[in-house]
Amino acid sequence: MNDNGNDMLAYQEAAQTLRDGGLVAFPTETVYGLGADARSTEAVERIFRAKGRPSDNPLIVHIADRAQLSALAESISPLAEALMDRFWPGPLTLVLPAREGAVSPRVTAGLRTVAVRMPGHPAALRLIAAAGCPVAAPSANRSGRPSPTQAVHVLDDLGGSIDGILDGGPAGVGLESTVVEPLEGRIHVLRPGGITAEQLREVAEVVLHASLVSGDEQQPEAEPAYEGEAPAGSGTISTPPGAAIQPPLPASEGPKSPGMKYRHYAPRGQMMVAEPRAGHDAGAFTAAVQAALDTAKARGETTGILTYEEHASLYHADIVAVCGRLAEPETIAQGLYGALRRFDAEGATYILAETIPAKGIGFAVMNRLSKAAGHRKLEWS
Ligand code: TXA
Ligand code: MG
Repeated sequence: MNDNGNDMLAYQEAAQTLRDGGLVAFPTETVYGLGADARSTEAVERIFRAKGRPSDNPLIVHIADRAQLSALAESISPLAEALMDRFWPGPLTLVLPAREGAVSPRVTAGLRTVAVRMPGHPAALRLIAAAGCPVAAPSANRSGRPSPTQAVHVLDDLGGSIDGILDGGPAGVGLESTVVEPLEGRIHVLRPGGITAEQLREVAEVVLHASLVSGDEQQPEAEPAYEGEAPAGSGTISTPPGAAIQPPLPASEGPKSPGMKYRHYAPRGQMMVAEPRAGHDAGAFTAAVQAALDTAKARGETTGILTYEEHASLYHADIVAVCGRLAEPETIAQGLYGALRRFDAEGATYILAETIPAKGIGFAVMNRLSKAAGHRKLEWS
């Protein structure tokens, strides 16, 4: 299936496939999704099988029209309405009280809430509207791989186990949607993504779970505490509108996204983030990163560096993955998953990734990078 301009047939065919219980991958403004009729347990089970996804990780339901919402959600608070008014269609997923029986119980994985989003990509909206049903769609990657930002990534991961792809070219944002739960007038961020905390804060107070910052992801294995890092806690950080992000504070448990407990993408090679330190000059940092790459190379590793256009000429490694421009962090979000896929494709065994400032979309970029690195950091002095 090809989204070449006015290819009605592609949409009709794709929509019919969804109505028939099939799986169709489609572009959204964040990443490619793997869609199925959210009302059909059989179809939804096929999604879990194709992805190799744990069955207790619920799916996002995609809609094309706010009129579809009342069938899915039991109630919609004024804050939820305000968020939809402001950010839909777009990269924001709202966790709302579920209306029983509206979608297959496999979609919500037994939770009493349902995650809903109206994507901001015309092809996605057109497909969902043509299908005439709520469309359950996780990212269209095999579980444990980076989300697909191009149709070819979907084919690499899922070719043969799905019924079709609507090709809409490269995804715009490059990272998944922000998942939030509006509760008692506050916006709880369960997963950072395409809508930034700064943008959300213009609507209401934002609560960021500390694990999004410090990397306490309830991993199966205990994780080391790193020098200079606050001990991993399960606290929350509450920031009133206009405030800057504060370091994690131990506090009560906030709502969580089941998906956050899984180890997400980790490259086959060992990966660490490399972070410049205040008080050290940039040259010392670059030299330390290059020395680490050289040492790894000398012991026979295939080395990779994830860096940005401004720094690309500073490093030598087997794979220099240039991922956007520091001056435009949106370009880094766009390029991130493609760069990570490249390390696997080219057999990197030792990877360093330069950090970027964790503000704006940089917060979501650093959340994904730290996870990919298993929260390991390069030690340097
Ligand atoms: O940008 C996106 O959100 C993409 C595109 C395709 O829309 N989709 C996506 O889906 O990233 P997926 O399945 O890869 O991630 C869905 C996340 C998971 O972390 C899941 O645990 C969480 O949303 N989630 C789904 N339903 C939830 C619920 N009822 N409560 C809390 N978290 C939920
Ligand atoms: Mg995913």
